Amino acid sequence: MQSFDTPVALVTGSAKRLGRQIISQLHQAGYRVIIHYNQSATDANNLASSLNQQRPDSALTIQANLLDDRAVQLLANKALACFNRLDVLINNASSFYATPLSSATLTNWDDLFGSNVKAPYFLCKALAPALAANKGCIINMVDIHAQQPLQDHSIYCMAKAALLMMTKSLARELAPTIRVNGIAPGAILWPSQQLAEADKTAILQQIPLQRTGTPEDIANTVLFLLQSPYISGQIIAVDGGRSLGAAQKA
Ligand SMILES: NC(=O)c1ccc[n+]([C@@H]2O[C@H](COP(=O)([O-])OP(=O)(O)OC[C@H]3O[C@@H](n4cnc5c(N)ncnc54)[C@H](OP(=O)(O)O)[C@@H]3O)[C@@H](O)[C@H]2O)c1
Repeated sequence: MQSFDTPVALVTGSAKRLGRQIISQLHQAGYRVIIHYNQSATDANNLASSLNQQRPDSALTIQANLLDDRAVQLLANKALACFNRLDVLINNASSFYATPLSSATLTNWDDLFGSNVKAPYFLCKALAPALAANKGCIINMVDIHAQQPLQDHSIYCMAKAALLMMTKSLARELAPTIRVNGIAPGAILWPSQQLAEADKTAILQQIPLQRTGTPEDIANTVLFLLQSPYISGQIIAVDGGRSLGAAQKA
């Protein structure tokens, strides 16, 4: 049985991959969790069932397409109704693909900006009063490519750059009641679209630690930020040193 005092976390896009690991570790740390998904209903429901077997009434799922403005507001309303409180919002859902300038479309723009920055912004707006009531936290999943262009991904990079600035701006605006931070992953899980082995090797060569990170590295950073009451407005790169760039010769 969960008590009313047990903190609650909402993680968007958390049926699979990094979001799923964040949900699992938050649950392990004692949180009640809300698993948001769009298309991955089976994964989301299986995850919730397995967590509820470990602790009854500790996990719920909500479906919403973050490109639909009304659905974003409904997601916020439903999330608040789940456990009647909210302590943590993690904006993790994202679309990611190449958009070379020559073939980029308005639909690409709306999709990449919608999922990576517009929906996170309006979720923050809708959920800020509830988060403030519990001195809550927002964590935005940014990307090291918010600051370093990724070839042929200009719209994605611009959207993540906006999310980075949103993190800093809202950290000011929502202080002192809500802390807002970001995590900028490097290569953690390869994108779901196929990546050629040669491209993977080229990326690994740019990483000082010479390997990809793990979903646990990201979830551990989420827990670190939640347990760090004097950190706000920061973006932590979890990238094996990749954002350092190549060493310069003297
Ligand atoms: N993986 C990495 O190495 C890496 C590197 C840099 C940054 N990041 C960032 O870290 C976060 C997690 O990465 P990831 O690779 O685990 O993400 P992902 O698998 O690419 O996407 C996570 C989820 O986002 C949801 N999503 C996408 N568009 C949506 C929409 N319109 N409405 C609602 N949900 C939508 C999808 O949910 P459904 O499946 O339910 O449709 C998807 O499962 C992302 O913000 C990503 O940009 C990851």
